[in-house]
Amino acid sequence: MSSNAPVVEPLAGPADLEAVLAIEEATFYNPTTREWYEAELARPEVCSVYVIRTDEAPVAGFAAFWRVLDEMHINNLAVEPRWRGRGVGRALLRGVLRAAAAQGIRRATLEVRRSNTPALRLYQGQGFAIVGVRPNYYAQPVEDALVLAATVESSQ
Ligand SMILES: CC(C)(COP(=O)(O)OP(=O)(O)OC[C@H]1O[C@@H](n2cnc3c(N)ncnc32)[C@H](O)[C@@H]1OP(=O)(O)O)[C@@H](O)C(=O)NCCC(=O)NCCS
Repeated sequence: MSSNAPVVEPLAGPADLEAVLAIEEATFYNPTTREWYEAELARPEVCSVYVIRTDEAPVAGFAAFWRVLDEMHINNLAVEPRWRGRGVGRALLRGVLRAAAAQGIRRATLEVRRSNTPALRLYQGQGFAIVGVRPNYYAQPVEDALVLAATVESSQ
């Protein structure tokens, strides 16, 4: 990774949204749409989108989550393919959990494909544990979702 520590902060404008959409397109078979992001960003009391910035990339990755009371559900999280495997995802997840803790969030959940070893390693390394299975939750290809949960520490 770069010499300066990466910065994790809320999505801050149209250029950030374009970068998030480009990472979506480069990453997911069914990318989350512009319409979804525009609608969700219009209700900041529920949805938050964070980006991670490094020396090399204004947006190297992003995470979107919903908040309900003191719980968060991470909907989408991805690192731009070029920057994977260098600790960016770990820094992103840590930064988002730290920001969530500062907002009073105490528990985090998410779903992940059973075969997604990089994501499982990332999440389990940051305190997430498997708490359930949703059979055949995903399409194209059909696959179970593992439900992961973590306690969000205020000292995160
Ligand atoms: C999952 C993802 C965000 C990880 O980001 P990253 O920047 O590559 O991850 P990091 O370099 O920070 O590594 C984080 C952990 O994942 C592990 N990891 C990363 N890539 C891996 C791979 N290809 N195989 C196995 N483990 C891997 C690392 O070893 C590290 O584990 P550790 O914390 O035990 O050392 C990234 O691969 C990605 O964007 N994937 C596509 C989108 C996706 O699957 N999102 C999750 C949907 S829920």
